[in-house]
Amino acid sequence: MKNIILTGFMATGKSSVGRRLAEVLNYKFLDTDKLIEEKTGKSIAQIFKEKGEACFRQLEGDVLEELGGAERVVIATGGGMITGKANYHRLQKLGPIICLQASPEVILERAGKKKDQRPLLKVPDPLEQIIALLGARDYAYARADFNIDTSFKDQEEVVRDILEYLNCL
Ligand code: S3P
Repeated sequence: MKNIILTGFMATGKSSVGRRLAEVLNYKFLDTDKLIEEKTGKSIAQIFKEKGEACFRQLEGDVLEELGGAERVVIATGGGMITGKANYHRLQKLGPIICLQASPEVILERAGKKKDQRPLLKVPDPLEQIIALLGARDYAYARADFNIDTSFKDQEEVVRDILEYLNCL
C-alpha cells in the first residue's frame, strides 16, 4: 500500500487518528495544514485573514502536488481539501481515502477547544455554519473509499476500524 489518506470535516479526529495509525503501521505521518504552515511561515488563521480562502485553497493544491511521490505516509488533509476536483484526483492517486465523520453537535464540541485556529468556524453561529458546510460538502466526502462515523468512538476504535478495512483491500 502506498499511503493512507484521511479526509473529513474539521474536528473529526484526522490528526490524532492519523498519528496513531501511522505509529501502528510504522508509516510516516503528515498533516497538510502543518505543511502549509511550514511552507509559508504563517498559521492557517493568518493565511485566511491576510490572503483569503482562495489563496489557501491554492496552497493546498501546491502541497498536494509536492506529495506526489509519497510512500508509506498517513496523510491527514484539511477538511476542505477533497472538495476540489483536481485535489480529489490527486488524493485518489496517493492511496485509499478514508473519511472520518461526526454529527454537527459533536463537531462543535470538539472544535470548541481550537476554535481560534479554524477561521471558517469563527462566525456568530458555528453550529449553523457546520451544518451548512457539511451539506455543501456531502458530495465530496461521499467519494471516499471508506467512511466512519466517529461520533461515539474513541481514537483506538477508529484506528481499529481503519485497520480492519485496510486488511480487506
Ligand atoms: C478547513 C479545515 C481546516 C483547515 C482550514 C479549512 C476546511 O483543517 O484546512 O481551516 O475548509 O474545512 P482541519 O480539517 O484539519 O481542521
